[in-house]
Amino acid sequence: MIVAKSLAEFQAAYEALPNKSDIGFVPTMGALHEGHLSLIRRSVAENTSTIISIFVNPTQFNNPNDLATYPRTLEADCALVEPVGVDIVFAPQVHDIYPEPDQRIFNLGGLDRFGEGPRRPGHFNGVAQVVTRLFNLVRPTRSYFGEKDFQQLAILRFVTEDLQLPVEIIGCPIARAEDGLALSSRNTLLTPSQREAAPHIYRCICQARTWMHECTPAETIQRITDAIHTNPELETEYIEIFNARTLEPVENWDDAAEIQLGCAIFAHPVRLIDNIKLK
Ligand code: PAJ
Repeated sequence: MIVAKSLAEFQAAYEALPNKSDIGFVPTMGALHEGHLSLIRRSVAENTSTIISIFVNPTQFNNPNDLATYPRTLEADCALVEPVGVDIVFAPQVHDIYPEPDQRIFNLGGLDRFGEGPRRPGHFNGVAQVVTRLFNLVRPTRSYFGEKDFQQLAILRFVTEDLQLPVEIIGCPIARAEDGLALSSRNTLLTPSQREAAPHIYRCICQARTWMHECTPAETIQRITDAIHTNPELETEYIEIFNARTLEPVENWDDAAEIQLGCAIFAHPVRLIDNIKLK
């Protein structure tokens, strides 16, 4: 496994890969956990070579404190992925990815109008900036993304199609801790008592699968909000029930064939997101 910490090192390692038309790619921001590993294992199983990137992308952070405190653990990350069969870990510097500031504004197909979009202005445009730049360098055949970031996956599918990029986008299920908490690099920032409170989020949102047979989406959201707030460590930023294709909130259960619930909950100052399929 080669750890490339600059563009030049990456290009040298890339040239040595055996079959450039069968490359799997897993972009990450590091602080790797079992969720990332599930994507990486799948890429290793499905491709001749696997490249992962570890790059905390400044353009997708709308909160400077979040960027400053984002965990950075490159050595531990490399030790974790080496036995899985990764060929190249690409861990570039900011100037490798952005020699000049990126001014591009992407067409996100309106998929950023809901959910995380309005709460994190510029976030998905920044994700599109970095992922398209990484695709240019890595030229992957397949790229793997987690459903943990359901809206990110939908937006990257859209951008890839819109720009006719020659890469297959593959969505992978959410990996959870045994207590149900969706695995996230930010979980390491929780205090012990917040970590104990956090699985309450998944327990509460799963109750929607019962409540959806008794009340409207709006009433279901209210019940979940009340249930989450029985734990004083947690504060709801939003809970949305939406069309899984367009991401548009639904008013009735028969408004869409596939319906998803997504939420962002604070265990201050840490912001946790989760989502589940309702139908
Ligand atoms: P990051 O948060 O590091 O996540 C990298 C990939 O791992 C994403 O596709 C994410 O959805 C997936 N992932 C994270 N937690 C997961 C879990 N519990 N189960 C399954 N998959 C999980 O998402 C990003 O980085 C960045 O926005 C990036 C795409 C790298 C662009 O900077």
